[in-house]
Amino acid sequence: MTDQPVYDSGLIAHGIDTTRPSVARVYDYFLGGKDNYESDRELYRQIMKVAPEAPEWARANRRWLKEVVTWLAEDRGVRRFIDAGSGLPTVENTHQIAQRANPACSVVYVDNDPSVVAHGRALLLDNDRTQFVAADLTEPDDVLADQAIADLLAPGEPVALVMALMLHHIADYDETLRIAERYVDALPPGSYLAITHACNPGDGGAVDVLVTELMEKVKHAFPTLAFRSVAEISSLFGGMEILDPGVVRLVDWHVPGGRVDEEPEPGVRDAIYGGVARKI
Ligand SMILES: C[S@@+](CC[C@H](N)C(=O)[O-])C[C@H]1O[C@@H](n2cnc3c(N)ncnc32)[C@H](O)[C@@H]1O
Repeated sequence: MTDQPVYDSGLIAHGIDTTRPSVARVYDYFLGGKDNYESDRELYRQIMKVAPEAPEWARANRRWLKEVVTWLAEDRGVRRFIDAGSGLPTVENTHQIAQRANPACSVVYVDNDPSVVAHGRALLLDNDRTQFVAADLTEPDDVLADQAIADLLAPGEPVALVMALMLHHIADYDETLRIAERYVDALPPGSYLAITHACNPGDGGAVDVLVTELMEKVKHAFPTLAFRSVAEISSLFGGMEILDPGVVRLVDWHVPGGRVDEEPEPGVRDAIYGGVARKI
């Protein structure tokens, strides 16, 4: 068999469907990863026809994650992280970034893709401050009841909940809002929520046109994918205080007090927006 990534023995049997593209594997392929199949690569090729900048979106998202996690651990004293919708392990994962800033940081990863579950658990076997929870994030009560998550939240210390490129996989806006609200409610005061999300500004401009074409390409593979407006993405933070520079394109996001571009580059077709908020 040539169409299989190299696995430790048996992982292929863990519910991994190689005939359909998986969000986690296609995204990983954009980042140069090796855990993909022909179904993932075919969708990648389709996406590249309309959005050749998509790999740069993935890289920008990982740059954003590194900047945010480093800042929260180094400057904001956060010691507890939940990476919700963590994806396949890649070059720099949240626990490596956080623990480089402060070895005392604990991280719980959550994902429900069988490829991610298998690889995530294998990666974390030797790190006693890191855990992996296999769960569906659209069931917040189940996720919050999981022992690893409950233990992380129990002391009431600030937690950083990272939902990077995850909430846009819930099709219905009201449901997404309810789910985000449930997680925000469970966070102790002083906690942070960091979100990146697919965005359609809905203004008829270049990004709007691009996103419409892109949706057409991926709608069969990823029927729940939802590009949302900046206002909708901002609303997912609930009553939290959205920190500077707000919910903006990832190319324009820098830690508060960091470099701020005078004017966003107008020509960049960037459909990924992000923001960080703090619970008062
Ligand atoms: C595009 S990847 C993003 C990975 C990583 N957060 C990042 O930003 O680099 C989206 C991840 O969210 C996960 N995901 C999507 N919906 C989910 C759900 N309902 N429950 C758990 N994980 C989910 C997918 O399995 C995938 O690994």
